[in-house]
Amino acid sequence: MDHFAYRQGVLHAEDVPLPAIAAAIGTPAYVYSQATLVRHARVFREGLSGVNSPHLAFAVKANPNLAVLKVLAGEGYGADVVSGGELERALAAGMAPADIVFSGVGKDAAEMARALEVGIGQFNLESEEEGVELAAIAHSRGRTASAALRVNPDVDAGTHGKISTGKAENKFGVPFDRAAAIYARLAGLPGLNMRGLAVHIGSQLASLAPLERAFTRLGDLMRAIRADGHNVTHMDLGGGVGVPYKAGEITPSPAEYGAMVARITADWDAALMFEPGRVIAGNAGVLLTRVIRVKPGAGNPFVIVDAAMNDLARPALYDAWHDFVAAEPTGQRMTANIVGPICESSDTFAMARDIDALVPGDLAAFRTAGAYGATMASTYNSRSLVPEVMVSGARWAVVAERIAPAAILAAEHVPDWLA
Ligand code: LLP
Repeated sequence: MDHFAYRQGVLHAEDVPLPAIAAAIGTPAYVYSQATLVRHARVFREGLSGVNSPHLAFAVKANPNLAVLKVLAGEGYGADVVSGGELERALAAGMAPADIVFSGVGKDAAEMARALEVGIGQFNLESEEEGVELAAIAHSRGRTASAALRVNPDVDAGTHGKISTGKAENKFGVPFDRAAAIYARLAGLPGLNMRGLAVHIGSQLASLAPLERAFTRLGDLMRAIRADGHNVTHMDLGGGVGVPYKAGEITPSPAEYGAMVARITADWDAALMFEPGRVIAGNAGVLLTRVIRVKPGAGNPFVIVDAAMNDLARPALYDAWHDFVAAEPTGQRMTANIVGPICESSDTFAMARDIDALVPGDLAAFRTAGAYGATMASTYNSRSLVPEVMVSGARWAVVAERIAPAAILAAEHVPDWLA
């Protein structure tokens, strides 16, 4: 459930009519609902009521906006970060260092040193080599880094290939059959406190079955490593729970996910950690856009909107579906191709889509754009970096400014030999 709904025929975010935001700051613009973020954060936590004090680390990559992180920090969430930049954001949002987990296959030495310095809770190691390097960095500073070993369970998540991470051929984690040996070696290194295992098999999972297979394998590994005499006290089950992108689409509910987790982990005797991203932020945001022009096509007309693949990359990258609705629908419908102004054909949001009838100047919104939306934006075609707005009740505020092409141009330099 989210707080984007029509009132008297006008799409609102909570109590704010979206046309008011568009009139004030222009389009395209992302709009987030604080009440929806809070609701999703709580529903996910409640889903895990069968699990003993779960540790919730929001996957910052899904939506790193400072105001969004602040809301989630207020809900007791920590952060799953994958870069020094995300680490600084989580700290700036007031998340406790101890509640921060650092994932990612390519943490560099400077990032690891900074994370050690601020005292993050856990490094999720993605290779033996990374563990050896982290141990050396920590040891040389007289520190001990708490770490988990990310395991690649070789499970097909059944999602889009570009967002699958748990197959043997993917770059993530260590091979399942080598994990116990790597854990044993790393556990013997000074500077490292090996305390757990981690897994994340992919994103936008429509079914719980692959997660259950991965968690079951991880549990078996945990028992084997303990039998070897090592401590395994923390088990990080990653993120991945899918959300409905189409009206009526069925995805696993947090309650179903939580019940499955509780069943699989009942005898684990370990602290459980989670890294939800999309399930918290996805349906808490929309991308507002205005129709520039409607152009006849060979088949259906092209509705050309002022948002483009640089603002919302998911359709171009993953053929992703985002529901598209008029801010003030007339009741008429049309079949159209929805496209942006960028000069390549991948700048297509939908083909032959049945949508609210639109004419130039009309305002519309792409739904379920709160996760992997603004964070993946670029300035391709020298367009602005898209702004972000947070709504809370009848209040709203710009939480990320539009960065105009002139500001980006100002950061470029012509070398003296070309001047
Ligand atoms: N933990 C790790 C280690 C991850 O790599 C990810 C996402 C998550 C947690 C959060 O997964 P979620 O709960 O959001 O499914 N840009 C793509 C999604 C990439 C996901 C990358 N990793 C998209 O727009 O669909």
